[in-house]
Parts: sequence; structure tokens; C-alpha cells
Amino acid sequence: MVKGHLEYLKNRKVFVTGHTGFKGSWLIAMLRQLNCEVYGYALECTSDPNHFSLLKSNGHYVYADIRDPNKLKQAVSESGAEIVFHLAAQSLVRPSYRDPRYTYEVNVMGSLNLLEAVRASPSVRAVVMVTTDKVYANREEHYAYREDDKLGGHDMYSSSKACCEILIDSYRLSFLKPDLVTENQQILLASLRAGNVIGGGDWSEDRLIPDLVRAAATKQTAKIRNPQAVRPWQHVLDCLNAYLIVGAELLKGNREAAGSWNVAPEKAAVYAVENILTLSTQYWNEIKYTILPQQNAPHEANLLMLDNTKIKSKLNWTPVYSTQETVALTIEWYRKYYESGDCITERQVEKFLAA
Ligand SMILES: NC(=O)c1ccc[n+]([C@@H]2O[C@H](COP(=O)([O-])OP(=O)(O)OC[C@H]3O[C@@H](n4cnc5c(N)ncnc54)[C@H](O)[C@@H]3O)[C@@H](O)[C@H]2O)c1
Repeated sequence: MVKGHLEYLKNRKVFVTGHTGFKGSWLIAMLRQLNCEVYGYALECTSDPNHFSLLKSNGHYVYADIRDPNKLKQAVSESGAEIVFHLAAQSLVRPSYRDPRYTYEVNVMGSLNLLEAVRASPSVRAVVMVTTDKVYANREEHYAYREDDKLGGHDMYSSSKACCEILIDSYRLSFLKPDLVTENQQILLASLRAGNVIGGGDWSEDRLIPDLVRAAATKQTAKIRNPQAVRPWQHVLDCLNAYLIVGAELLKGNREAAGSWNVAPEKAAVYAVENILTLSTQYWNEIKYTILPQQNAPHEANLLMLDNTKIKSKLNWTPVYSTQETVALTIEWYRKYYESGDCITERQVEKFLAA
């Protein structure tokens, strides 16, 4: 693990888009422990309960649409932030089939608005753009995609994120080229492609763990589709730690970090949905599920693996938690919440940072 990236980020001014979402709220919890001054830009919380609300976090938070270029520009400029983490997105596959235009407007034009806001800001020097493992043209083969593999996307969410990758690259080449950056405008830009992330506090629709725990909390049986689908599961804190490592390197002016990075567990830790289900039931006996027949369901990837060699070898990132630990920590979070109303995020973040 790169030592010192957390120390390096302490007390910084940080701008986070999507702070009310699953990953964004965990990122806020991490940044708070680093004593950062945090600025957020997102829509109001939509799920009830909502992880960000449970954190009762003080910060400078703007509730506005990423599709509003002027508000976003103003928020970024007024923050005086040195580093930006862009997580705001329409982040789900199924809704992307229902509303492709909205998905593209938020994901592609929203990212463009953010990049324009960054260019206009006098303070930003590092930008971490969050895309996804789904940006690759997925051949559904037993193959782990590398950063220079062909981009693509069967569904609208995946293709919108692949478009973001092209957009990011174009900004890097046209405006933020590491070789061309001057002392006055040194903005380094990276894109991060992470696999399926799990952890407490996610109440999104149509995601495996939220579906399971929502059912368990009301003593119902969760209905699961695609039990054979294989994904690179990882704990949200492992994923965010990669974002922080890359962010710190960009802020230090490390031009090698200004590229794209896969963030994924080891190949041996790539599990099918059914393995995650079995593991989950070990940690909460209220979890019960049944498998739905798949008729006329919109296409979703069945096999997806990423190669994590680049980030491991160049930046020494490595996952702290095994898949078993990842599932245990996740289910523990929800159990504590549903059984006693506790939000144990701070404790889990402290434990992770100490590890
Ligand atoms: N959760 C995963 O497993 C996963 C995996 C790979 C990539 N990602 C990516 O990571 C990022 C964060 O994912 P997440 O799981 O936290 O998503 P999420 O859906 O929980 O949160 C999305 C955030 O974006 C904000 N947002 C959405 N539309 C907006 C708009 N029009 N204007 C302003 N803000 C808007 C929401 O308010 C929220 O804060 C996304 O870019 C997502 O595509 C997530």
C-alpha cells in the first residue's frame, strides 16, 4: 500500500460530487476522519433510510443538478478545493434502459460540465473521475480486462460511462495534457474503473445486497436474478482507498497517475452472485432468497473481470479485505442498523484506516 497518501490528504479542501450517494457518503466519512474541509454537490437524498443523512455530517453541501453548468461552476470555484472526486451519476443499469436520455445527460454531459467547472476554477489541481468496470466491450469470456482494452457497453449505463472515458481522454489531450500543464494551471486528471462495490448503507434499487437486506429486515424472501453472474466484488472502503491513492498522487503532481486505473479484487476473489448469497446467510440468519426465472429481462453482463496489475504494480494499491471479510463487514453493518438503529460507519472507517 502507498504509505502516506492519507497523511498527504489531511486537512485539504476537497470537492465531492454525488456526496449523498452510496460511495459518496462513505467518501465523506473517510475525508472527515482526515480532517478535510469537504464540499459536496448532489441531488437531495432519495432513499429512506439514507446513509448520508445517518452520518449527520457538517460540510458545505450544495443540492443542485449536475446538468446545471453555471451552478456547478460556481460551486467548484467558490469552494477553493484543490482536489475533486466526481461520483455523481445515474448509476444503475435497469433505469438506464428506462431512460437512456437522462442517463446520458447526467453521466456524459454532467461529466463535461464538471470538467468545464474544473477548468474555470483557480484552485483545482487534481480530478478523480469515477467511471466503472462496465466501460469495456465485454466479450463475456474468461478474461480480465486491462486498461488499454477496447471500450464499449451493451446497456445504456455502460455505454454512457464508456463515453465518459473518451471524454476524459479528450480533455486530457486537449486541455489538461500532463506535458503541457504549466505552473499556473497544473490540473491532472485520472479515471477510475471499479468493480461491484458493496458495504453498509446502500439502499439503491436493483442491487444485490440492498435487495437482500431490505427483505431480511421485514422477514421476507428476496427475489434474486442472475445467480450465475460473476462480478469483481469489493468493499467500498477498498475501492475508495484506491480513489484516495490516485487523488494524492495527482495532487503531488505525479503525471504517471494521470491515466485510467482498474480497481478490482484479485482474480481468485471474483465470485458469482450465488457465492455472495451463501456467504451473506452465514452472517444474518434472517437473509432468505429465491431465484427468479429470467424471462424477457433486459440484458446484463454475466461475466465481468478486471485486471488489477497496473494499480498494484505502479501505485501499490492492494485490497485490504478478502471477499469473505467484505461480505461479513457489509452484513454486520445492516444487522446493527436494523437490530439497534446503530450506524457503525465511523467505526468501520477507523478500523480500515488503522489497517
Ligand atoms: N456502486 C457500485 O457498485 C459502482 C460500481 C462501479 C461504478 N460505480 C460508479 O460510482 C459512482 C458512485 O456510485 P454510487 O453507487 O455511490 O451511486 P449512487 O446512485 O448511490 O449515488 C449517485 C450520486 O449521484 C448524485 N446524482 C445523481 N444524479 C444527479 C444529478 N442529475 N445531479 C447531481 N447529482 C446527481 C446523487 O444525488 C447521488 O449523490 C457512480 O459514478 C457510479 O456509476 C458504482
